[in-house]
Amino acid sequence: MRTPFLATDLEVLTVTPTSVVISWITRAARRGTALPHPVPASTQLWLGPTRLDARIVHDDPMPRVFHQVEIKGLEPGREYHFRAASDGIAAVPSLRVTKGPSSPEHVGRFVTLTPPPGRYITTIALANDMHIGEDRQGIVLGPLPTSIPQAKTLPNYPEIMFTAMMRELDARHGHPFLALGGDITNRGTEEQAATARRLVDQYGVQSTDWLAVRGNHDRPPRGDTDPFGEHFVGFQQMVQASTPSGLRIVGIDTTHGSGGGSVLPEQFETIEATLQDDPDRPTIVTSHHPVTRDASLSSPGGPQFMLRRQDQIRLQRLERAASGVFLHHTGHTHRMRRGKPDVQGPHTEYFENAACASYPAGYALVHLYTGGYLLNFWRTSTKQALDWDFRSRWQTLGLAVQLMLGTTNDRNHVVLKDLSGLEPGQREIPEELRV
Ligand SMILES: [Fe+2]
Ligand SMILES: [Fe+2]
Repeated sequence: MRTPFLATDLEVLTVTPTSVVISWITRAARRGTALPHPVPASTQLWLGPTRLDARIVHDDPMPRVFHQVEIKGLEPGREYHFRAASDGIAAVPSLRVTKGPSSPEHVGRFVTLTPPPGRYITTIALANDMHIGEDRQGIVLGPLPTSIPQAKTLPNYPEIMFTAMMRELDARHGHPFLALGGDITNRGTEEQAATARRLVDQYGVQSTDWLAVRGNHDRPPRGDTDPFGEHFVGFQQMVQASTPSGLRIVGIDTTHGSGGGSVLPEQFETIEATLQDDPDRPTIVTSHHPVTRDASLSSPGGPQFMLRRQDQIRLQRLERAASGVFLHHTGHTHRMRRGKPDVQGPHTEYFENAACASYPAGYALVHLYTGGYLLNFWRTSTKQALDWDFRSRWQTLGLAVQLMLGTTNDRNHVVLKDLSGLEPGQREIPEELRV
């Protein structure tokens, strides 16, 4: 007899102007309660302008555990009704955010994004927390099942996830400039830093194709050795890059000796001079640690795991004084979250991005227009990546995912902003933005 199963973890993961990505997983159930054990089943999705008009738009009999369906050809700014099922079992949400009374997963409806006004300019990819060299994901508490290793038959996950992400950025997103927000390695050893550099070199040239900042896992220098500094960028050194459109990307090193963070006075001087030299230039900032009090207080690690309060405020003030800084991307918390600034009158979005290496395991694309930008989170979706995603979902006894996924709005949103100083026409407009 077949193992009883449930279709759970329903997520409206990515919503663009013309497409949607909906996912769920099938797993064993005992007396109506889902267990971590995977059960392969078929994949069906219905979609339409009303619940009654929803038609089957995807029907795949191939048994699988991680069900992810991308539907294209939708219209921007329009509501769609959907339902999903595997072998006749309806897929349902299972997290606090996805079960919320107005969440798309709970109500079975979503609205496609409306692109910002103006012309398409370019696309930037934001990613962080690859943790190259790590072998368990989650909080390691002795023998307790709080962290998850890779399956014994498979190569270790950090390299799989990092490589698959960069291949996906090349193959389906047109090789956007890639900003790496720290924790690129797990312990900052020479071997890990060299491996990470070898992998990212396959994506392209530093400062032309990608930029990286240090995370607390990449470790500040110890004694005379600083492998991360040798392979990527020196300790407490600000870095910057430009794209052909004129967009500036600034990287800040927020690390010190522990999990928390600080910015040293010399780096602050460089940041201030750089921003003040050209304050109106459209700029994205990347640092490992989030820079809002809201991020610190809502993180399970607490404020001591985050950037010092006075440095958070100083960075926010410097960014407020430079009208071109429109987005500050951070990692470290491994979650999707739009932060709340502390300073009055801010014009910068403070955005925490989920990890490359663990659930929901992906990257954000920021599509710039002359009148604003559109941000989408994408899950890295090769078979091996999805297999690891299923496993890493169970880290910290399956509880961490409650914090990491964020809402559909955290992962997909549009912000109006005058970016007309940038030069359009340097890049082909992505398929999902062609309306
Ligand atoms: Fe991390
Ligand atoms: Fe970190």
